[in-house]
Amino acid sequence: MENTTQSNTITKVKWRCPSNIAIVKYWGKKPIQIPCNSSLSLTLSNSYTEVEAELTEKTTDQKVEMTYYFEGEISDLFGRKVAKYLEDNIESFPFLNDYAVTMRSMNSFPHSAGIASSASAFGAIALAVLDFSYAFANKERNDSFFQEASNLARLGSGSACRSIFPSYAMWGENDQIENSSNEKAIEVTDIHPNFQNMKDAILIVEDEPKKVSSTIGHGLMNNHPYAEARFNQANERTAKLVEILKSGDIESFIQLSESEALTLHAMMMTSSEYYLLVKPGTIQAIEKLMQFRLECLVPVCFTLDAGPNLHVLYPAKYAEKVEDFINNELTDTYKKVIFDHEGNGPTKLEA
Ligand code: DP6
Repeated sequence: MENTTQSNTITKVKWRCPSNIAIVKYWGKKPIQIPCNSSLSLTLSNSYTEVEAELTEKTTDQKVEMTYYFEGEISDLFGRKVAKYLEDNIESFPFLNDYAVTMRSMNSFPHSAGIASSASAFGAIALAVLDFSYAFANKERNDSFFQEASNLARLGSGSACRSIFPSYAMWGENDQIENSSNEKAIEVTDIHPNFQNMKDAILIVEDEPKKVSSTIGHGLMNNHPYAEARFNQANERTAKLVEILKSGDIESFIQLSESEALTLHAMMMTSSEYYLLVKPGTIQAIEKLMQFRLECLVPVCFTLDAGPNLHVLYPAKYAEKVEDFINNELTDTYKKVIFDHEGNGPTKLEA
């Protein structure tokens, strides 16, 4: 366990950053962290990472002197990834030439939830280190702070750049969307009341670590036989989803969301090194959900990230009906459920 008494603290900051769930999926990338297509996600609220970062005097001559704790224990594997990220981007964090940094992080969701934490973790890390840079440069945190943080979060993990913004965010150059960028996400602000305060119930079907990481999955999109068609489709769908969110067309939202989830998994199943991440519980829950929608006329749909866990999406006014259904009819398909909803983006906390 960590000894938390530090006598030579120079300064400390703490940030909380939420996770997000993509409706249009980022799948395939080019160096350095440039997406092959645009994507659009819902920022969550209850699923988040908190990172407290502390600067102290350096005690070694390492380029970046960094220690990373995850829930009180030194995390070697992720710590090395973060140290490399800081080294690669040291021009954005020049104070790291002079000071050592200790990061202490925690996730709001259980370790074994099978929820990808790289989006919320790199979001919080980028915000914390950029906050130091701004303080050393006597710069005020304004809108451009969050744009820069999104760019820096992307360099840690692509999907993290969308977590910096509240509600709905899109990332990736798209001819049909003004100000869209490969470097950072932008907020999608024109949202019909039907899609405001959207709910996401995350059914944890399997809580073991993924067999194939997202990074390997992205790599398999190089030379994928359907890559070009898929990238065009995702760009079209991102632009279409912006319009759907504006108009409030729930039927189109349902269709687009579910087709995106299945297309993502179809890409995995049809890559040269094919693999399958869905589990029997995933399929069973999807079938029951579709039946429930048909019989009860409730506008509920699903999406998936790169794993077996089902994200059940529904407008707030149907919360009671959908949650009763999840708690009563789906229990044999999942191990636990996390009820989450649209969130307001990152927050700075008292360090
Ligand atoms: C299926 O952002 O985890 O969740 O950039 O390699 O860190 P890296 O990948 P990552 O990929 C996310 C893939 C996805 C879809 C999405 O979030 O858009």
